[in-house]
Parts: sequence; C-alpha cells; structure tokens
Amino acid sequence: IDPTLDLFEEIEKLKKEKNAVILAHYYQEPDIQDIADYIGDSLGLSQEAAKTDADIIVFAGVHFMAETAKILSPNKKVLLPDLKAGCSLADTCPPDLFSKFKEKYPDHTVIMYVNSTADIKAMSDIVCTSTNAVQIVESLPKDEKIIFGPDKNLGAWVAKKTKRDMVLWPGSCMVHEIFSLEKITKLKNRHPNAKFIAHPECEDHVLKLADYIGSTTGLLKYTINSLEQEFIVATESGIIHQMQKASPHKTFIPAPPTNSCACNDCPHMKRNTLEKLYLCLKYELPEVNLSKELIEKSVKPIKRMLDISA
Ligand code: 13P
Ligand code: SF4
Repeated sequence: IDPTLDLFEEIEKLKKEKNAVILAHYYQEPDIQDIADYIGDSLGLSQEAAKTDADIIVFAGVHFMAETAKILSPNKKVLLPDLKAGCSLADTCPPDLFSKFKEKYPDHTVIMYVNSTADIKAMSDIVCTSTNAVQIVESLPKDEKIIFGPDKNLGAWVAKKTKRDMVLWPGSCMVHEIFSLEKITKLKNRHPNAKFIAHPECEDHVLKLADYIGSTTGLLKYTINSLEQEFIVATESGIIHQMQKASPHKTFIPAPPTNSCACNDCPHMKRNTLEKLYLCLKYELPEVNLSKELIEKSVKPIKRMLDISA
C-alpha cells in the first residue's frame, strides 16, 4: 500500500460507495476502533450484525465473531480483515471431542459461550456472552442439568453467582489465564485507591481479588460511573483505549501477566490492522462463508440468546 495514502479517508470513501458497515470489538487496535461504525462487546456486536441494513459487514474481530454475524445475516457479505484471526478459547473445543463429551450427559442442556466455532454452536441449545451468561443460566428452570462451555473460568464464575452446579468444558483463553496473582497483589499495594477490575474469563484466584467483574462493556461502564480515579484492568488491553477516551483524566493500569515478556494483547485480535481492513474492503476479501445447513443449525441457539437478551 502506498504509505502516503490516508487510510482513514480511503476507508470512509469505500464504506459509502459499497454501503458497508465496520463492526469492531473493543480488543481491536485503536485506529480500527476509531474508524468503526460500531464498537462493542460480543453481545452488542451480534445484536448489531442482526439488525444492520448495510450490504457488507466488515467484522474487525476474530473468526467466531464474523461467523456469528454471517449466521445472523446470511444474505450479507461478511468480511474479516485476516482470516487467521482465530481464538485460543474456541480452539480448546473441537467438535469431535465435544460431541463425545456431550454423549456422556444426554439429559443436559448445553449453554455455549459465543467464543466457540459455528460447528460447536450447532451442537448447543443456547448461546451466551459474558454480558448475559448469568441471565441465560437463570432463564432455565432451577433443576435443569447444564453443560457450560468452552470457558471453564467464566463457567465457574457463573455457577457461583447463580448457585447452579454445571458440568464445565475445560477451556480457557490464553490472554485471561496469564495474570499474576502475586504481581497484581503488589500493584494493588502500591496503588491502594485503585479499583481492580477483571473479565470473568480470568482465573478464580484473580477474580477473588476483584472489586468488579464484568464483560468488556461492563468494565467500561464501571470505569465511567466510578468516582475512583485509578483502575487496574485485567483483560485484553484494547479496551483501555475506550476507557481512556471516555475518562481522559483517569488512570488505567494493565494488570501484569506472570511472564514479564508477555503483554495483554490478544495475538488473534491484533492480527487485524488498518491496512488489512482497507484491503479487505477494497477487494471484498477474505469473506466468511458457511453452509446453509450449518447456518440453519447454529442460528437457533444464537436467536434463543438474543430473544432472552432483547
Ligand atoms: P466480551 O467483549 O463479550 O466481554 O468478550 C471478551 C472476549 O474475550 C472476546 O474475545
Ligand atoms: Fe479468544 Fe481470548 Fe483472544 Fe478473546 S481474548 S479472542 S477469548 S483468545
């Protein structure tokens, strides 16, 4: 790409020309968040994908999110700037193993976190996101037997909050499982007024220290509404861009991971760049496509979630 090209301007032009909409997750790089038509958490993004009247959805996020958009808007063209933008959590749950696991619990209802592939969603009864997981579990009768997948940390947190016993698939996210309890404790000591806020994909021992636990939207709202000035943030660092924009005078400290060489960036989310977004809109590639049969099967548990969350 010509380095003198103003990508913001070019993307705006292409968007109008093609009646395209850019949906971006909070974990995308700041430039992508700034050019997006809608920025949100997984629930907000799927609601937006279901109702948009654009002809093209450019999904600045990871593959399972673009798949969900395609499932909800099968007649639209759904583009993902980098097809290799996967998800370590979704990868922990391959369909063949999950199918065998499910066979062991034939009388259970399967609640599946949206961070899963379309094949896995097609094997599930109802989808949830971190924003509505508690609400979805509570929408089922108290004695309902539940399998929850693929995130065991979110599952354990929801089980505790709802006081339900759930069978958990043992998956986890590579970004949220690396936070250091020891380093966070030291950081809290050095910043005694800071609120420690965490995403429920974090491990239980980290969540126990948290002043607030919530989805990315929940965490953002908490920092906006809180009277505190300092926050230690245990989730992917992309969300800090929105926190800082909404509260320019507050301080946001990324929670430290165990390995000092690591950072809180999700390598999958960060595969998307402004350059790739421009190229993808220009050439309308790469496109996410799913079979009619898979769309028919996977749309049911997603629609069930959207009906409950409406
Ligand atoms: P939410 O934005 O729904 O909280 O999800 C976080 C996440 O891990 C997305 O990959
Ligand atoms: Fe998947 Fe974790 Fe990256 Fe979210 S942050 S896309 S759950 S690997």
